[in-house]
Amino acid sequence: MTLSTVDTADQVRSRVQPAMRALLDRLDQRNRLVAGYQIGFWDADGEPAEAGGKGLRPALALLSARAAGAPLDLAVPAAVSVELVHTFSLLHDDLIDADTERRHRPTAWAVFGPGPALLAGDALQSLAYDVLIDAPNGGAATRRLGAAVARLTAGQAADLEFEGREAVGLDECLRMAADKTGALISCACTLGALICGAPADLVAGLSRFGEQIGLAFQLVDDLLGIWGEPERTGKPVGSDLAARKWTVPTVRAATSDTPAGREFALRYREKAGADEGELARLIELSGAREWTTQYASRRVRSAISGLDRLELPEDVRRELANLAVRVVGRDH
Ligand code: IPE
Ligand code: IPE
Ligand code: MG
Ligand code: MG
Repeated sequence: MTLSTVDTADQVRSRVQPAMRALLDRLDQRNRLVAGYQIGFWDADGEPAEAGGKGLRPALALLSARAAGAPLDLAVPAAVSVELVHTFSLLHDDLIDADTERRHRPTAWAVFGPGPALLAGDALQSLAYDVLIDAPNGGAATRRLGAAVARLTAGQAADLEFEGREAVGLDECLRMAADKTGALISCACTLGALICGAPADLVAGLSRFGEQIGLAFQLVDDLLGIWGEPERTGKPVGSDLAARKWTVPTVRAATSDTPAGREFALRYREKAGADEGELARLIELSGAREWTTQYASRRVRSAISGLDRLELPEDVRRELANLAVRVVGRDH
């Protein structure tokens, strides 16, 4: 399952994944087992498995190096580090969200327990910095990755704090989504370019592109959390609604000033008494499903038109634009 073109997906499989596997050998056996389970290298007993994510962030990091005209070898540490951070954030996120299924398998904390999941996440984060600091321009790249992690954790903290609230504003919800997901995707779009010393305006342009597709990516994730097919997403559907999470579609519905939106807000605050199907129907009737879809599409269009202002090899521009389109068109 991938969003990128055959070539980039192949490079993630043939170059990035083996490098991640080799890096895991630097960990102690306990953390290694949990971390490798989360990535999809093996099952809970350490037996080989065929599982994994879409590889969006490493694909973007590889393209970012190509955008700056750099060879693949130089880009691999950038791709590895950003996927390691992504993996650590998922390990912790499933614990935070008390979700029991991801990538068509039980979540790591459900298999190994909360403590081991937390620790394996920490271990993965340290590996990410370890691999990046040794790359050319590693200092700047590592600082940038650290800044993205700071924003990601700020977004996750906001997401968590919103859970206890009666109401959340649309702007603060969009900021939360941009922080928890946009920051790392934006970082992925710059890391490859940064480690090969690309000019600052190219790095800034790629960062803006990533920020916009990253926000759109989270909005689609929010929509798939309500209307997705678990057989495609590998994650439970309806769990955000059951947990009364504030996401962009739910906040938009609750603040929409429509009869369905007001009804939704009332039922959502009651914490019980409405099933997820009924809540989803009210969100849709309020227009929030359509609004969120359109908002994500606008971000992607703006990201693509921003690419025209950058000096990029044509094939890279095309591939970045294709990826951006697939971010909103995806069903998993
Ligand atoms: C899931 O990210 C978490 C979000 C930031 C929405 P992905 O959908 O990229 O997860 P994988 O790596 O493909 O499983
Ligand atoms: C996405 O969180 C952001 C991070 C994991 C940092 P979500 O909670 O919205 O993502 P899923 O739906 O569990 O993948
Ligand atoms: Mg989650
Ligand atoms: Mg979450």
